[in-house]
Amino acid sequence: MVKAYRASILHFLADPDKTPVEDAYEYYEDGVLLVDNGEVVACGEAQAMLAGLQGEYELVAYENALIVPGFIDTHIHYPQTEIIAAYGEQLLEWLETYTFPAEAQFSDPVYARGIAERFLDELLRAGTTTALVFGTVHKASVDSFFEASEERNLRMIAGKVLMDRNAPDYLVDTPESGYQDSKALIEKWHNRGRARYAVTPRFSPTSTPEQLRRAGDLLAEFPGVYMHTHLSENKDEISWVRELFPDCEDYLDTYDQAGLLGRRSVFAHCVHLEDREWQRMSESQSNIAFCPTSNLFLGSGLFHLSRAQENNIRVGLGTDVGGGTSFSMLQTLNEAYKVLQLRGEKLSPFKGFYLATLGSADCLDLADLVGNFESGKEADFVVLDKACTPLMDFRMQQCKDLFEELFVFSMLGDDRAVQATYAAGVRVHQR
Ligand code: GUN
Ligand code: ZN
Repeated sequence: MVKAYRASILHFLADPDKTPVEDAYEYYEDGVLLVDNGEVVACGEAQAMLAGLQGEYELVAYENALIVPGFIDTHIHYPQTEIIAAYGEQLLEWLETYTFPAEAQFSDPVYARGIAERFLDELLRAGTTTALVFGTVHKASVDSFFEASEERNLRMIAGKVLMDRNAPDYLVDTPESGYQDSKALIEKWHNRGRARYAVTPRFSPTSTPEQLRRAGDLLAEFPGVYMHTHLSENKDEISWVRELFPDCEDYLDTYDQAGLLGRRSVFAHCVHLEDREWQRMSESQSNIAFCPTSNLFLGSGLFHLSRAQENNIRVGLGTDVGGGTSFSMLQTLNEAYKVLQLRGEKLSPFKGFYLATLGSADCLDLADLVGNFESGKEADFVVLDKACTPLMDFRMQQCKDLFEELFVFSMLGDDRAVQATYAAGVRVHQR
């Protein structure tokens, strides 16, 4: 049966920095989102939409609420759920001290499945319905993840980590085993239901040039598969890459020489890119995951959003849990705003909500399926509660327009603001 969700409704049709802002979004203060068979039928003014409905329908009304498309997280590690908020280190020491020992446990598929369930609970609690997800080096970690996400019918992209050097013995594969395991996972999971696969070299320091080339072979053999890695996050990391790859022009070139750049390639961080790298990212249509809570927490640096925009590079938002400190895209917007303040730039709340939804969908080349409420899109959406805490309620009452309300959501909001989350038209979380 058709379902009609009544609340304020907001979704984006375009980047508010590239279109007159009033054309970039649609907003219905008293709106209805019509959903049938897991897909969006339409959205619009409540009175008109309901009057136009023929036949039976079920009405679900949310008071003092804003419905937006499900949030999209373009970079996150599910096996790091248990090390979120680990004290005191920057990237390379943080990996050795906390990350590698935690990831070792994912050789056990039962353990992996347990963490995958907890991870998905947290994502949905935060209103995130799609993510680009790192597994561990263990093939079983990705099977466990996709099994859990398939059961909830979520649109997820994930992959097995490739790592054949500079990591503990218990966590390395080889160029050949990494290739074979990834290939088997692609054949099993890519485009099965709502799942897609990403070839996932951890970062250049933990892969030999041969392993990176084998990753490139996979992309050539399986068009449509994604590539997901880290790039230029931390100064010590960058110096190390220079030592390990003396024949490469720069960090990005270590991936470029292996054929890893392109429209479905997502590079997390890109905090310290050089001129040539910006240019090459742009030319190759590669994408960036901007991860502000992680960049601040690990002391990595301040991402340069305007530089990415000048170079016409698509940017999505990532939490990078467990380097990041929150599953919430609202909290991620909060810290993105502050990073850009320190850069002397502004992040308008319209741009912020665009980035958390349609912008991140575009970054993952999923904008034909999710990211807004155009007819036929998959019905992934979130109900945000304007009165979720006494302070939020009080502050919202002072707001004079949508712009201010969105800004307050992104500064004060977190999982408490998410009243309900829906995936493919089914409620998958209720606060
Ligand atoms: N670079 C290589 N591995 C990682 C990781 O797990 N997290 C982050 N933030 N950066 C990385
Ligand atoms: Zn990461």
